[in-house]
Order: sequence, then structure tokens, then C-alpha cells
Amino acid sequence: MTMLVGNYGTNAPEQPSGSPLTSTDVARRKCSASRLLHPSAAASDAPLDTGALTDIAVGLARTVGPLDGELPESVQRHRILATTGYDVWVMRWAPEAAVAVHDHDGSVGVVHVVEGSLEERRSGLGGVPGAGVALTVGATASFGVHEVHELRNRSSAVVTSVHVYSPPLGED
Ligand SMILES: [Fe+2]
Repeated sequence: MTMLVGNYGTNAPEQPSGSPLTSTDVARRKCSASRLLHPSAAASDAPLDTGALTDIAVGLARTVGPLDGELPESVQRHRILATTGYDVWVMRWAPEAAVAVHDHDGSVGVVHVVEGSLEERRSGLGGVPGAGVALTVGATASFGVHEVHELRNRSSAVVTSVHVYSPPLGED
């Protein structure tokens, strides 16, 4: 992960394209995400689209759920799935824990909140931080190749989130 400055937008929960989904769209995305989830999915240099990444994040969030365990000291990262096309990380955020402004090494990706609430702040031109946006349970934010952001748990409770990146970030 490289720390730098840039600009990108936020998407509504589970609807990254910003337009209403038809039942055909939903069925197509479910089928596409099912194929993509399989570790044998064909390798490609092209990143997966954020709609497919959102489907993967939302689906895996259902299996992860809120996590028990010791209070994390800061931000804990666990890679739970690695394919040639994308990888998936579960992150646990201690109260007030944050990840400073960063890009994603040329990957596109999504952040899906499983438990608690994160504040996301995207950087505008010249590195000026934008307004903070609350990502609550069930919310998904997506980002493009050139977009950067910072994330923070502003609460006194642990937050759990699922992050999907394509191409995969690889070992951190
Ligand atoms: Fe990020």
C-alpha cells in the first residue's frame, strides 16, 4: 500500500454503479460473482469491475459476520481468500484506529462494513481531504485505480470490514 493523495467518489451500499438494478442485472451479477469466487477463475490482467467485487465482499461478509476475540491493538488485517484475479481481506479496527491516506498499488477495490461504522475521507485535488462519510453496517464504498482515501473508526467499539482488491494486493 502506497501513501499518497488523489480523488475519487463514494457509492451507496450494495449499489456501486449508482443506477437502480433490474432483476436481470441482479441475476447476471450473482452468476458472475459465483464464477469469480471460484479459486480456479481464469487469470486476467484486467481488474474485475467494482460490481463484481461488491458481490464478492457482500457474500463473504455473510460468512464472516461480526468477529469475537481479543480487542485489536490497532488495525488487524487477515487475507482470507487469494485468487489470481482478486484477493479478500478482513480487517478489525480498534476504537479510534485509522489507516492514513493511501492508494491501492494500482488495484480497484471495495470496502464493505460488517460490524460498526467507519469514517471514510477521500482526498481531492492537491491532497485536500474531503468531508468524512460514514460507512455503516452493510455499506460498501468502491474506489478506482487512481483514487485514494483514509479510513477511521471514530467509535469506542470494534469495527469489522471486508476489503476486496483486483488485481490482488498480494502479501502485505
Ligand atoms: Fe484503502
